[in-house]
Amino acid sequence: MKTIIEPFKIKSVEQIKFTTEEDRKKILKKAFYNPFMIPAEDVLIDLLTDSGTSAMSSKQWAGVMDGDESYAGSKSYFRFEEVTQKIFGFKHIIPVHQGRAAERILSAAVLSQVDEAGRFIVNGKGKFIPNNNHFDTTRANIEFNGAEAVDLVIEEGKHPSVQHPFKGNMDIEKLDNYIAMVGKENVPLCMTTITNNTGGGQPVSMENIRLTGKICKKYGIPFFIDACRFAENAYFIKLREKGYENKSILEIAKEMFSYADGCTMSAKKDAFANIGGFLAMNNEVLYDECRNLLIITEGFETYGGLAGRDLEAIAQGLEEILDEHYLQYRIRSTAYLGEKISKGGVPIIQPPGGHAIYVDAKALLPHIPVEQYPGQAFVCELYISGGIRAVEIGSVMFGKYDSHGKLIPAEMELVRLAIPRRVYTQSHIDYVAEVILEIYKKRKEIKGYKIVEEPKFLRHFTSKFAPV
Ligand code: F0G
Repeated sequence: MKTIIEPFKIKSVEQIKFTTEEDRKKILKKAFYNPFMIPAEDVLIDLLTDSGTSAMSSKQWAGVMDGDESYAGSKSYFRFEEVTQKIFGFKHIIPVHQGRAAERILSAAVLSQVDEAGRFIVNGKGKFIPNNNHFDTTRANIEFNGAEAVDLVIEEGKHPSVQHPFKGNMDIEKLDNYIAMVGKENVPLCMTTITNNTGGGQPVSMENIRLTGKICKKYGIPFFIDACRFAENAYFIKLREKGYENKSILEIAKEMFSYADGCTMSAKKDAFANIGGFLAMNNEVLYDECRNLLIITEGFETYGGLAGRDLEAIAQGLEEILDEHYLQYRIRSTAYLGEKISKGGVPIIQPPGGHAIYVDAKALLPHIPVEQYPGQAFVCELYISGGIRAVEIGSVMFGKYDSHGKLIPAEMELVRLAIPRRVYTQSHIDYVAEVILEIYKKRKEIKGYKIVEEPKFLRHFTSKFAPV
């Protein structure tokens, strides 16, 4: 087979600034060793996230110019509605400013009650919402409303080095038993995240989505898909699941969503947009409630929290993501980085995921105890050595404290190298691999970190750290 190449030409470029290791030590200290506090200008290769960082196409930019900014009934909304209905198949599509707004509205709607005085209150106490793995914002929105976010990914999905074609799968038996145990009346919603970001960007099989839908139907529980990276997931199904080799991405996507009652979507991922998202569903009663919540906080139903131009960019991006040449390049180029560093000895989640490579920091830095956050230590080293920005997905992001203030660590200590869509070329990625392999050689000298200040929710964004 011929070399897989970037399926695009570069029309516009953005310069990047070079810094020295000495500069970066100072910058990192000033940022309290938290990559979220480093000014982006001081980053050479930014792998913090694949969210909102895509290079938009010339057609998307043309759409931006063409956006209809009417308050109600904008032409851009109708284009957005048409494209989303074609792919996702749901009756009602509510635009929102980004994925977490969809999560906030959905979780408030399913956890709401009407009190004695007829007032609408959100109270999730005693309620449980399962998922393969909740992403941090999904979890936070559920927990903020008092309910419990439960992760039921298959066992293979919890072990970085274990190979499995669909490591993002829900443990179907566990889900069934769990709902039976807590009572279906206490499970107002069930979700599955495709691909499973928290678990390594790992795909979920069609069969697994179908079975999750079946269990939910059995208990009468609404089933929603967190669809951020739906096209990457669909491409993995095409590659790895029998019977899908000859199906188009659109056909696979339509089938995936046909098993669900709705979805939440951050258009900042697989819609190539810099901002935006939506919440989609079929149920009229739930839609009515969600729409009310939308109008209170996001905006009227034909724009959500967005401008008409954003709706155009999303609609165009959703058409482009269905291109198999793009998806082949995307999945292959992510695997390229993973293979390069794992061949050099660096432990990563195997097999490589769709949007990112996840380094297993616990295995890479066994001399750093989880209380000293090995993932954070690796993140800091990446920045100092190469100006590369990544994010910890481990006990900084998901750790909790017991009643004595002792850390309850996350299941895994990972560092995510998320690859923005259509942004970096192969030589950028070669550079990243080079830096990582250099760090690997001096890994024994790397030291841990402690948290010196932290907020109550989503602490990884604003916590301050210091070297131990
Ligand atoms: N669900 C998943 C699986 C996500 O990865 C994200 C965001 C969201 C929901 C929330 O969407 O950011 O538009 O509000 N993930 C980004 C990331 C932030 O870096 O993985 P949002």
